[in-house]
Amino acid sequence: MENSKHESARQREIIKKLREVVVPKKLTYFITTFGCQMNAHDSEKLKGIVEEIGYREADDELHADLVIFNTCAIRENAENRVYGRIGRLKKNKKKNKNMRIALCGCMMQQSVVIDKLKESYPYIDIVFGTHNLYKLAELLEINFETGAPVYDIWETYDEIVEDLPAIRKYKFKSSVNIMFGCNNFCTYCIVPYVRGRERSREKEDILSEIRDLVADGVVEVMLLGQNVNSYGKGLKDNTSFSDLLREVCRIDGLERVRFMTSHPKDLSDDLIDVIATEEKVCKHFHLPFQNGSSKILKAMNRGYTKEHYLNLVEKLRARVPDIALTSDIIVGFPGETDADVEETIEIVKKGQYSSCFTFIYSRRTGTRAAVMENGSTPEQIKTRFDKVLKAVDKEARDFSMRHLDKTYKVLVEGVNEKNTEMVTGRLDDFSLVHLKGTVEDIGKFIEVKIVEAKGFYLLGERI
Ligand code: 5AD
Ligand code: SF4
Repeated sequence: MENSKHESARQREIIKKLREVVVPKKLTYFITTFGCQMNAHDSEKLKGIVEEIGYREADDELHADLVIFNTCAIRENAENRVYGRIGRLKKNKKKNKNMRIALCGCMMQQSVVIDKLKESYPYIDIVFGTHNLYKLAELLEINFETGAPVYDIWETYDEIVEDLPAIRKYKFKSSVNIMFGCNNFCTYCIVPYVRGRERSREKEDILSEIRDLVADGVVEVMLLGQNVNSYGKGLKDNTSFSDLLREVCRIDGLERVRFMTSHPKDLSDDLIDVIATEEKVCKHFHLPFQNGSSKILKAMNRGYTKEHYLNLVEKLRARVPDIALTSDIIVGFPGETDADVEETIEIVKKGQYSSCFTFIYSRRTGTRAAVMENGSTPEQIKTRFDKVLKAVDKEARDFSMRHLDKTYKVLVEGVNEKNTEMVTGRLDDFSLVHLKGTVEDIGKFIEVKIVEAKGFYLLGERI
């Protein structure tokens, strides 16, 4: 902790020095974020740092003086999009002498990526990874001084550096990291390699961050971790995730608590109890099952069977009948057959999901599945994928119909982009609702009656 404070103070000093260079030149920045909520939250921290340095936000990356890509390594196409975007910037870089390109995030933790960048994109200025994001100011300073590319990738880290400025996208809600990394090594997944081993933040640090956020106007928090159900392992006081949730709920002024992501193998009855009994805990549960076939789940190293998962769903529905369940699904894992996909569809139906993120399996170099023979053609996989999507869409529509004629509280998030007389917000169960309103409503809870269910969103009327 002491070290962490010292480090953030050092970064703040550098930020101050950089301001003297950046502000007079009226430099601008643009950040693009790929991937998950964890990355989105990291980008809020990056934004905090660059704005403190004095950069102002540009309208697009082609006109910015500092372009940052916070990358994702989960699937190959996200990686290819990054290469496409940096390729496109080469011309602009030549025209604008102030322009700096910085890359960070999960992709940078892979040596194959670093080799490719050094070889094919020598005009990239700053490259850092997932463990040293807080050092952005220092890396910029080095680059300004030397004019040479700066690569700084860490295999792991010993300190969680906190207390640096962050700029929240929303005034009234915020994500909060409760843990970093993952120990599960699902055989398809690159995350344990790029985000490192699981580390939980101290409970008191989390609670104090949330208290500060609430004092600053936040009414809803999203607790973030790759596997929140194993929160607390390795901490001195043996706190569990359920204990943490209960304490977060005691914070006055905080109205809603969300969390993501849960792993089915670590889901405790105690957590189900917290969801059922704590009013502030939102009735939305993201519980990815990935695949319906126990054979494929074993090959994925998920640590549970189809029956175990379905049993969890039953327990949850028994305690919280209207809970919105969501999931991630992978289609096309090596060895998957038509019969396995039928089992995935069976879970989709039994789970009555409000929505599912459905992905086609993407081979990631370095993972255990990368060397497995697939056995299916891309066409077969696409057909199976479409079939799963159809089942997912039907469940989502059915789930949204459940809301008709009922009344709920909506937390308004913003003015509707297509129709400025409308605002958009979310229910406790994460359903998206549009209703008539103005900017004045943003950040407020409004009681509505649901008058139409459109599948992916609901229409509400004030009551
Ligand atoms: N291919 C496809 N989807 C993947 N995911 C993780 N790794 C891969 C991969 N190699 C999906 C999982 C996970 C979500 C965040 O991304 O479904 O839950
Ligand atoms: Fe990847 Fe599995 Fe860890 Fe999730 S639990 S981040 S899918 S290894």
